[in-house]
Amino acid sequence: MRICHTSADMRAACDELRRAGRTLGLVPTMGALHAGHMSLVAAATAACDAVAASIFVNPTQFGPKEDYAAYPRTFEEDRRKLEQAGVDLLFAPVAAEMYPPGNTTFVDPGEIGGRLDGASRPGHFRGVATIVTRLFNIVQPERAYFGQKDAAQVAVLRHVVRDLNLPVELVICPIVREPDGLAMSSRNRYLSSVERERALALSRALQAAAELVRSGEESAEAILHLLRTFLARVPDVRLDYVAVVDPDSLLPVTNVSTGALIAIAAWVGTTRLIDNLLLQRHQVP
Ligand code: PAJ
Repeated sequence: MRICHTSADMRAACDELRRAGRTLGLVPTMGALHAGHMSLVAAATAACDAVAASIFVNPTQFGPKEDYAAYPRTFEEDRRKLEQAGVDLLFAPVAAEMYPPGNTTFVDPGEIGGRLDGASRPGHFRGVATIVTRLFNIVQPERAYFGQKDAAQVAVLRHVVRDLNLPVELVICPIVREPDGLAMSSRNRYLSSVERERALALSRALQAAAELVRSGEESAEAILHLLRTFLARVPDVRLDYVAVVDPDSLLPVTNVSTGALIAIAAWVGTTRLIDNLLLQRHQVP
């Protein structure tokens, strides 16, 4: 696996692969890799001739009071995992490489960037849209792999790709969970053992919502009521949002019979976690 630390080096390495006629898949990450990330890598290696991954803790998607400085950085372990999984190229720039002095251009996704996590984390999706667009321009992958875990991120990136005519196919992979249901996240390592137990409330609330829909309930209000009452009972869990929305626009829906995204964000102690359930059109979960 070749490791590139500068954009110029990465671009040259990707150009070389493309010139050899190999289809290129990209898996963007912030590192602290777990099985969720590795499922994206597996999907990419299965479908592409060559795979590039990036590890960059992107400062512009963190708010001033968020965990940018504390975000887990486990480069050696990550490098080993990617190498073992058959990744060809790893892009690992430092912040000064991606944001040198005088860097002033951003990609602003507009209104959709202010919905769900974008409402709780102002500027977050502007940071995500900017860094992902730049990674696309450096790597120029045929396909790029993202997780359904970050459902609002998926909706925002679909908009960016469409609005800016970016020549890349987004491939969205299902949420990978721990055996007890907790959605895997780099931030799970912040949880104490008591908080880890409390955190199960998110996936359990979504399972209860799935049950309700399976029993025939179609009303978003009824689903929201169930989620709120379920989560209110759990100590140390403070709700940020619960939402039943259209998965593409992230705007609220009133009835889920034509498909919907049920999304939760909650603080467990000082750790903010997200989870969601995608109801397909006419499909019972
Ligand atoms: P990060 O949180 O490292 O996640 C990288 C990718 O892994 C994202 O597409 C995310 O949705 C996916 N992922 C995380 N946990 C997952 C899980 N349990 N199951 C499936 N996929 C999972 O998301 C980001 O980084 C950044 O915003 C990034 C896109 C890299 C831009 O900086």
